[in-house]
Amino acid sequence: MKKSYLYIIYLLIVVGMVQLYSSCSESKGEGKSDAQSTEVKADSAVVAVDTTKIPHDKFGDAIKYGRELMLHTAYYIGPNGVNGKYLGNKMNCTNCHQDAGTKPYSLNLVTAFRHYPSYRAREGKVLSLAERINNCIMHPHLGRPLPLDCREMIGIMSYLKWLSDSANVTKATKGLKNVEIELPDTAASSTAGAVLYANDCARCHGTSGQGEMRLDNSTYKYPPLWGMKAYQPGSSMHRIVKMAQWLVSNMPYDKATHDKPFLTSAQALDLAAFINDDKIHQRPFVKEYQYPNPEEKAIDYDRGPFKDPFTEQQHKYGPYKPIADYWKGRGVEPTY
Ligand code: HEC
Ligand code: HEC
Repeated sequence: MKKSYLYIIYLLIVVGMVQLYSSCSESKGEGKSDAQSTEVKADSAVVAVDTTKIPHDKFGDAIKYGRELMLHTAYYIGPNGVNGKYLGNKMNCTNCHQDAGTKPYSLNLVTAFRHYPSYRAREGKVLSLAERINNCIMHPHLGRPLPLDCREMIGIMSYLKWLSDSANVTKATKGLKNVEIELPDTAASSTAGAVLYANDCARCHGTSGQGEMRLDNSTYKYPPLWGMKAYQPGSSMHRIVKMAQWLVSNMPYDKATHDKPFLTSAQALDLAAFINDDKIHQRPFVKEYQYPNPEEKAIDYDRGPFKDPFTEQQHKYGPYKPIADYWKGRGVEPTY
C-alpha cells in the first residue's frame, strides 16, 4: 500500500517537472519540446538516463537544447530549419540514435563524449567529438558542417557531456554498444531481404522505402531507408553488418526489443543487404574517398581497393568470416 502511494507522488513530481520544462521552452520559441523523458529502467545493468536531473542553469539550457536538437533535428536545422539550414534531408538524429541517444543497443551515445578525441580509420586521423558530430551531419543528413561556436554545436556537445557525466556506467553496463550478431557461412541475400521487407517493414517505411512524412511536412513519421533523401553511401548504416546489428534489437519498431529480437541475425543481414543494395536502390552521390589506409577498412566496407584477396562483392555481402579470419591470422582484430 505504502509503496504505491509513494509511486503516485513520484509520478506527480515527474509530470509536474515535465510540464514545467515544456512551458519554459515554449516561452523561448522551442515549442517542439520532448515530453517523453526517458524512464529509468529497473534493470540497472542496462544503461539508463534520468533527464529530469538536467540542471536549471545556463549549462542546463544548452543541454536541453542539444537534446531537443537530437529529437527534432530537421525542425531546427533541416532544409527549412527555424534556427539554421544545415541538413540536406529531414531525418533526425534520434531516427538511428533512438531516444536522443539514450536507448540501449541503439547506437547509444551515453558515453560518446569519453571516446573523443580518437583515431578513426575512416578518416585516417584523430577526430574531435565536434568533427565526429559533423560526420553524421554530413553523411546520414547530407548536410554542411555546424560551425564549432554555433549554439547548435555547443548544445549537442553539452548534451553529450551531460549524458556522459550523469550516467552511472561500469564495465558491466549493457546497451552501450549494439548487439553482436552471428555471421553465417553464406553471403547475405538481397533477394531474401526483399521478401522480408515486404512482410515486415513496408507497412511503415513504404513499398518504395521512402518512409512517410508528418502532416506538417517538417520531418518523418517513418524515415526513408533509401532514395535521394535517405542516408548516403558514406554513412556507416550503409554497411551491412553494422546495420544488421542495429536492426535485430530495434526493428520492426513496434515488435523488437534487445532482449526479444524479432529478426534472426541472418534475416537482419538479408534485410540490410536489400536496403543497401546500390544496384536496386538509388542514394545520394558521394565523391570523397574514405579510409585513406586500405588495410584499416571495416570488413563490411564495400569500396576497394582492399589490402586482402577478397572481392568488393564479398566485403559487401559476405560471407564475412573468411575475411575476419584472414586479418586475425595477421594479428589484426577485424572491425565491423
Ligand atoms: C542514418 C543513421 C544515423 C543518423 C541519422 C545519425 N547517426 Fe550518428 N552514427 C550513426 C552510426 C551508424 C554511427 C556509428 C558509426 C561507427 O560505429 O563507426 C554513428 C556515430 C555517431 C557518433 C559517434 C559515437 C561514438 O561513440 O563514437 C556521434 C557523436 C553521432 N553519431 C552523433 C550524431 C548526431 C548528433 C546526429 C544528428 C545530427 C546523428 N549522429 C545522426 C548513424 C546515424
Ligand atoms: C511500426 C512502424 C515500423 C516498422 C514496421 C519498421 N520500422 Fe523502421 N523505423 C520506424 C521508426 C518510427 C523509425 C525511427 C525511429 C525513431 O525515430 O525513434 C525507424 C527507423 C529505421 C531505420 C533507421 C533510420 C533510417 O531511416 O535509416 C532503419 C534502417 C529501419 N527503421 C529499418 C527497418 C526495417 C528493416 C524494418 C523491417 C524489419 C523496419 N524498419 C520496420 C518505424 C518502423
